Amino acid sequence: MDIKFIKNDHLKKKPDFNNLGFGKYFTDYMFMVDWYSDKGFCDAKIMPYGPIEFDPAALVLHYAQETFEGLKAYKTSDGKVLLFRPEMNAKRFQSSNERLCMPKVSVDDFVEAIAKLVSIEREWIPSTRGSSLYIRPFMFAYEAKLGVHASNHYKFMIVCSPVNNYYKEGLKPVKIYVEDSLVRAVVGGTGFTKCGGNYAASILAQANAEALGFSQVLWLDGVNHKYVEEVGTMNVMFVIDNVIYTSPLNGSILPGVTRDSIITILKDKDYKVIERALSIDELIENAKNGKLTEAFGTGTAAVISPIGTLKYKNDVFFNNDNVGPISQMLYDTLIGIQRGDIADKFNWTYEVK
Ligand code: COI
Repeated sequence: MDIKFIKNDHLKKKPDFNNLGFGKYFTDYMFMVDWYSDKGFCDAKIMPYGPIEFDPAALVLHYAQETFEGLKAYKTSDGKVLLFRPEMNAKRFQSSNERLCMPKVSVDDFVEAIAKLVSIEREWIPSTRGSSLYIRPFMFAYEAKLGVHASNHYKFMIVCSPVNNYYKEGLKPVKIYVEDSLVRAVVGGTGFTKCGGNYAASILAQANAEALGFSQVLWLDGVNHKYVEEVGTMNVMFVIDNVIYTSPLNGSILPGVTRDSIITILKDKDYKVIERALSIDELIENAKNGKLTEAFGTGTAAVISPIGTLKYKNDVFFNNDNVGPISQMLYDTLIGIQRGDIADKFNWTYEVK
């Protein structure tokens, strides 16, 4: 891809890298390319970060035709810049776009655009453990038209944000509320995609949970309201009798890059991992009889997020509010590979030159 570079004459003062939170600061540049139904992709550029104009009738503002991705760049102790499995994000972006009837970006173009932008923004990558540069590629329908149809014009953009932990708790266990009335997705819908609409539909349950003092919601399946699916911004895993259980990729949950990496790491360390539908009753039963020893979420933003409390109806499960040994081992291994401190035996990292 031919990417034009438009220099920014006003570089920002960098924020305090020890106090970034998540997604509050943005770097000096962004990537943008247009796609037209008669011309394909054109006019790719890395340009100064800033607002863009929308026609009030732009399709995305009305019918939410939008998809996105999330990945991170890490700085190693010897100053190298690494991405983690960017081709997996590229492929998931393709599958989201296919479902949302949007143009597909080739894996090579997706990775190249990210690598070029991150290379320019390398000074924005925090180097402390637990921090990184979060990269947000996204595409949206830009044509001004009110009919409900695929757009003839899209923009594919990438912005970057230096981040610390997603949850204010850091690696400390989070409190999760089991949502048994509202639903996030159903098989046949868009649950397996990363589209803005999935997240819009989750905000009410999230707000209700927050009002009750919980960090996020655990979604049950949309048909029976019975089987555990995923947590707001992460996939979820449970350790029962030393076996790790997680929902199968049944079409309504997100195929997480971190989920896949964690399953691979667990199997490599000889843990048994079972991908099967697990009912909330079975889970609570195992919590009560002491067989459920750990629960944790996995996600790019959340990394490994131990769950300390799970509230379902009147049942509250306390994991002693400690970080369990498997959660800690997975966090250390994953972060170690991502930051280049542990040998990358799975060939997951991609060096940005
Ligand atoms: C990610 O983990 O990258 C996500 O996209 C979660 C995000 C919605 C905060």
